[in-house]
Amino acid sequence: MTMASQRISILGGGLMGHGIALVFAAAGHAVKITDPSAEVRDRVRERIGATLDDLGIVNAALERIDVVATLEDCVAGAQWVIEAAPEDLALKQRIFADVERSAPAEAILASNTSVIPIGRIMANVARKQRTLGTHWWNPPYLVPLVEVVRTAETADATVAATIGLLKSVGKAPVEVKKDVPGFVGNRLQHALWREAIALVAEGVCDAKTVDDVVKSSFGARLAVLGPLENADLVGTDLTRSIHSYVFPSLDRATVPSPYLDRLIAEGRLGFKSGHGFSDWPPEQQAALRARLNRHLKASFGPPAAIKE
Ligand SMILES: NC(=O)c1ccc[n+]([C@@H]2O[C@H](COP(=O)([O-])OP(=O)(O)OC[C@H]3O[C@@H](n4cnc5c(N)ncnc54)[C@H](O)[C@@H]3O)[C@@H](O)[C@H]2O)c1
Repeated sequence: MTMASQRISILGGGLMGHGIALVFAAAGHAVKITDPSAEVRDRVRERIGATLDDLGIVNAALERIDVVATLEDCVAGAQWVIEAAPEDLALKQRIFADVERSAPAEAILASNTSVIPIGRIMANVARKQRTLGTHWWNPPYLVPLVEVVRTAETADATVAATIGLLKSVGKAPVEVKKDVPGFVGNRLQHALWREAIALVAEGVCDAKTVDDVVKSSFGARLAVLGPLENADLVGTDLTRSIHSYVFPSLDRATVPSPYLDRLIAEGRLGFKSGHGFSDWPPEQQAALRARLNRHLKASFGPPAAIKE
């Protein structure tokens, strides 16, 4: 499916913003991107260029990307505005209030928040029928899924147009019909992480064992067998029976684990401090990142929609 060139504005030139900009520019759209950090703005074209090289994409993507200094300049004339600023509700609310003052009335306004309900982010926007969530996954130029999240006020036409745009750039959008925290993907993912942390906290096994169990069993199957396909495969009756034995002992905490609080207090912040659940010397970090990149490239390849 092709689409005439659209004017796409991206707010935030970090990990997600630069990758989302790349996808649209590689597919032939005109992209403006801004970031309050002059350092990020200065580096964003170089960063996108390096990723295009890594993906083996040779086209005019960079020529279609305009890096601008202000939000007002960025959203002027936009048909779509996609916000990829830090995960901070008050910041995102301020951004969209500013966007609405400067963007055309017919522009569609989307947040790339990971978990915050879209209705809360758009609380100060008057034209709520033009707002929604587009939750991309990292790295956005490889992972196909984008969750398109509607609020109670989002118009059907806004959802349909956004799904059409995303399909035209080779993404695999899905519609999330209720604006729940974490949408679909992160609810599933963090339900698993909650239990993983509880197993370690309770001394059932160590962190490496949790990860080994997932990677050498159902983690590998998940790419071709979703949980509900799996439930049908084994039978809904067996699924019910398993749940009757295991549910009573699953973790049901409604706050983050005290085990995480302890790690944080000890400065065990993960890769960024060299230690987390496990120790992470720089060479092991680099090896894991390289393994992940190879795996995602082999699974998904570069963006499907490329224009000269
Ligand atoms: N990192 C992921 O895996 C991932 C995946 C999906 C969604 N997200 C979400 O995407 C958003 C961005 O995450 P990221 O990982 O790219 O973060 P990041 O820190 O790499 O980038 C955020 C950028 O936003 C800029 N910024 C700060 N204030 C801004 C403002 N007022 N207007 C515009 N830009 C501003 C920062 O300077 C920074 O360059 C967050 O909401 C995050 O939860 C992240």
